[in-house]
Amino acid sequence: MTDPVRSIAHRFPGVPTLEGAGVRLRRSFSNNEVPLFDPFLLLDRFGSSNPEDYLAGFPWHPHRGIETVTYVLDGEVEHGDTLGNAGVIGSGDVQWMNSGSGIIHQEMPKRSEGTMSGFQLWVNLPATEKMSLPAYRGLTRADFPEVMTDAGARVKVVAGTFGGSEGPVKGIPVDPTYLDVTVPAGAPFDLTTPSGYTAFAHAISGSVQFDGHDADPVAAGETALFGPGDAVRARAIGSDARFLLVSGRPLHEPVAWYGPIVMNTQAQLLEAVRELRGGEFIKHRRPIVEE
Ligand code: CO
Repeated sequence: MTDPVRSIAHRFPGVPTLEGAGVRLRRSFSNNEVPLFDPFLLLDRFGSSNPEDYLAGFPWHPHRGIETVTYVLDGEVEHGDTLGNAGVIGSGDVQWMNSGSGIIHQEMPKRSEGTMSGFQLWVNLPATEKMSLPAYRGLTRADFPEVMTDAGARVKVVAGTFGGSEGPVKGIPVDPTYLDVTVPAGAPFDLTTPSGYTAFAHAISGSVQFDGHDADPVAAGETALFGPGDAVRARAIGSDARFLLVSGRPLHEPVAWYGPIVMNTQAQLLEAVRELRGGEFIKHRRPIVEE
């Protein structure tokens, strides 16, 4: 029988990476980890108080076959895309973007007086949805319920349900839960996760002990992938701690990955590249939406 509380199966310290037109970030997991995090493909954490580390941004680039989830903790990211969406993702906001069959967009961090920081998570689409209509949700901090637990943990619900509150991001194929959790030192935190689902945590600040045993605490910047079980148990060590907690239903489908395009077969990747070169990549266009 499986222990109902999940233990840490793998730890990822995050690798300094230069991405986009020259953005310094830390990559927690990516194509080398396929299929460990299925249905999640990539987690990047950007964060710097030096604008030279991020101002080059992520100019126009394509995506196909995935969802990209941008969560800004501090600062602002300007964005625009071929659907005609344009705007600013501000502190506490989330952009949950389904590239579907194809989107070309840009994501440009703006100069910030203090720190610019946040995350981008890539969520895989099932084979049947990879060529679907692109969709885009721009959510601001006021859209997310915050739940206080009896032990004093504060939980921002982006997707999934916690403590009876449902996050505003619904109808995602892999049934994700995406929580931003702040726990006072020493206080316990428990999340029930469906057995068979993939679950991981990323420590934003402080250090967190998971699984209720004597595992080494997960330090700020570190990502922990959990093994089998149906609950995650956490406790902040020493001081308050803040972490992302994410789970989802694995797809168990083949992954063919080329940069910002993730499909199921090499033939689909070649087709995407051919369409990009021939100007046939975008299948769905919409007029510019006035804001
Ligand atoms: Co992008």
